[in-house]
Amino acid sequence: MVAVAILAAGRGTRMKSDLPKVCHKLGSLSIVERVLNNCALVNPSRYLVIVGYQGEQVKKSLEAFETIEFVEQTEQLGTGHAAQQLLPHLAGFADDLLILNGDVPLLRPSTLQHLLETHQTHQNAATLLTAHLPNPQGYGRVFCDDRNLLQQIVEDRDCTAEQKQNHRINAGIYCFKWSELARVLPKLQPNNDQKEYYLTDVVKYLDPVMAVDVEDYREILGINDRKQLSEAYEILQERVKDDWMRAGVTLINPDSITIDDTVELQPDVTIEPQTHLRGQTKIGSGSRIGPGSLIENSQLGENVTVLYSVVSDSAVKDGTRIGPYAHLRGHVDVGESCRIGNFVELKNTQMGDRTNVAHLSYLGDATLGDRVNVGAGTITANYDGVKKHRTKIGDRSKTGSNSVLVAPITLGEDVNVAAGSTVTEDVPDDCLVIARSRQVVKPGWRLKSKPDNQ
Ligand code: UD1
Ligand code: CA
Repeated sequence: MVAVAILAAGRGTRMKSDLPKVCHKLGSLSIVERVLNNCALVNPSRYLVIVGYQGEQVKKSLEAFETIEFVEQTEQLGTGHAAQQLLPHLAGFADDLLILNGDVPLLRPSTLQHLLETHQTHQNAATLLTAHLPNPQGYGRVFCDDRNLLQQIVEDRDCTAEQKQNHRINAGIYCFKWSELARVLPKLQPNNDQKEYYLTDVVKYLDPVMAVDVEDYREILGINDRKQLSEAYEILQERVKDDWMRAGVTLINPDSITIDDTVELQPDVTIEPQTHLRGQTKIGSGSRIGPGSLIENSQLGENVTVLYSVVSDSAVKDGTRIGPYAHLRGHVDVGESCRIGNFVELKNTQMGDRTNVAHLSYLGDATLGDRVNVGAGTITANYDGVKKHRTKIGDRSKTGSNSVLVAPITLGEDVNVAAGSTVTEDVPDDCLVIARSRQVVKPGWRLKSKPDNQ
């Protein structure tokens, strides 16, 4: 059995932000949400999150995690002080406690599992993750004997020039025998450059304390400023993209592509440059997305193509072609083998199979059947200034170029709308509707010439 405590009370001064550091987004999830998700494999019996600076905001951002117990740290006097706040909450708790810095989000769940197993196998009082960093600046340095048993941890700012030569750093990820930690937490003193209570000082009073190196140091990079936030994003992206390429997805110029780790792709999807896939997006086999596209919370079937377009909160079935320069937003459902072409905007519109909206249209709040052809420049006038209204177009109907369909309106099946019509009343099946003034041609008509003096 193990409990987890996450230190998330700090302000994150170096972020220079009104938002608490742990609430900053790293892709689709916040930093602290990622820290919580990384615990999945160790299956904790309890989750405690220590909050302080803008604690309400941190709590709100974690509403979806129902089992979290929040622990208040009203003054932020250091990581040791934060851990001290756990004492009343874990009174009587007899198992191991993982303590995780809330700003170390890239840890692999398997690494945490390995830490816990090492801790339990050796029956350590404490076990902590370490790494050898090319640039260890800012991190606490870890000094061990040759059996990885800990001698001391010295914060970067408290290090002598010689101690700074040690590149083995403290990752801020620990496993403690809680009864031991609880015994020594009250002994901490703020005897350091920052006058803070350091959690790292507990190792002086515990025995044995063991350090475990992570294989890939990029898992334990802490986020203290925006530069590190962007570096973490790069690392995350590289992981996600490498995984998809191994799973059979072609990425053309991967550096210019971003993919949230919530996205699902089938083999033989091709992602072209400058394309961004976000949120709960799924893309079927054989589809080709991009260049230059954004797909957000949308489900695309197989063999769909999207070129220089934006698709959000929508679903597109197999074989449909979208773009260039189309915008689908807010619950659009497109059937199979449709064509949504140049400069077309669709909002809350559903259509059947083999329907085409190929050029320069806005369809909002519309329902279209199968094999409809929407002529160039067709617009649904869906808004009367107060309310939105629906337009319905039956199977095989065709609208001429530059038609305006004033909603609420229903066109039946096999309807033809003459070009340039403004249609305001329902049209039954099998009709031609012409709703424009008749052309007037006046033979021999000329503008009278103006008088000379004007
Ligand atoms: C800490 C470690 C350092 C380690 C590094 C790894 C200490 C003293 N130092 O330094 O050895 O190399 O992490 O990333 O622990 N927090 C609170 N309450 C506080 C202060 C901090 O909850 O009073 C939280 C912060 O929100 C943050 C975490 O603790 O999530 C770490 O705090 P931070 O100030 O970033 O510590 P570092 O200086 O990075
Ligand atoms: Ca930190």
